[in-house]
Amino acid sequence: MLNIALFGPPGSGKGTQSKYLIEKYNLAYISTGDLLRAELAAGSDLGKQVKAVMDAGNLVSDELIVQILEKKIKSLENVKGILFDGFPRNLVQAYILTGLFSKLNTELTCMISLEVSEDELMGRMLKRAEIEGRSDDKPETIRNRFKQYREKTQPVEGFYEEIGKCYKVDGLGTIDEIFDRICEVIDRL
Ligand code: AP5
Ligand code: MG
Repeated sequence: MLNIALFGPPGSGKGTQSKYLIEKYNLAYISTGDLLRAELAAGSDLGKQVKAVMDAGNLVSDELIVQILEKKIKSLENVKGILFDGFPRNLVQAYILTGLFSKLNTELTCMISLEVSEDELMGRMLKRAEIEGRSDDKPETIRNRFKQYREKTQPVEGFYEEIGKCYKVDGLGTIDEIFDRICEVIDRL
């Protein structure tokens, strides 16, 4: 199986690149952010529980993330690999992912980390706010998302670096250029 964790700060292009990657490599797609937004849109109990947390730009509890992940993974059949977008988001989740793959008798192939400066990210998300109106694309919330990223998510990179699975990719440029850079990493493996 080809199992990838696409990693990077808010607005770094994880969702954008995922669309092309799942198509090219025929992968199942798991975006914890999208799954949470779907729960919100459906008005489920879980959605109600996470709304305030997401609107503030904080991380949702690991327990709830495990719940939505398990539900999603049960729905997968005969997959060639899985692309995770926005998961793992902290060290506990990195351990959860290791356990999850081991249950599926497989392992993570690589973690690809998109590198983009916060100035560029802020610009991208403010632009998206005008078009899509995502409720967490507000300047104060974006700043808190950056803070959460630096404090809780960034250490995950070190975790994968230590086991030789972290690949950093320059996330600045056109969508096509970045896609080529990511494919180069995957095709080398
Ligand atoms: P999540 O949905 O994961 O959001 P995020 O990490 O903040 O990232 P975004 O989705 O905003 O950005 P992206 O990297 O996907 O970039 P995109 O392609 O959209 O998480 C949201 C919230 O859910 C979290 O804050 C948390 O509360 C909760 N959550 C989710 N997962 C969790 C977890 N595992 N644990 C706990 N809580 C969790 O691109 C951004 C914009 O830039 C777009 O408008 C795009 O068109 C544009 N763009 C893309 N590429 C380029 C380019 N090359 N040049 C210029 N513009 C570009
Ligand atoms: Mg996204």
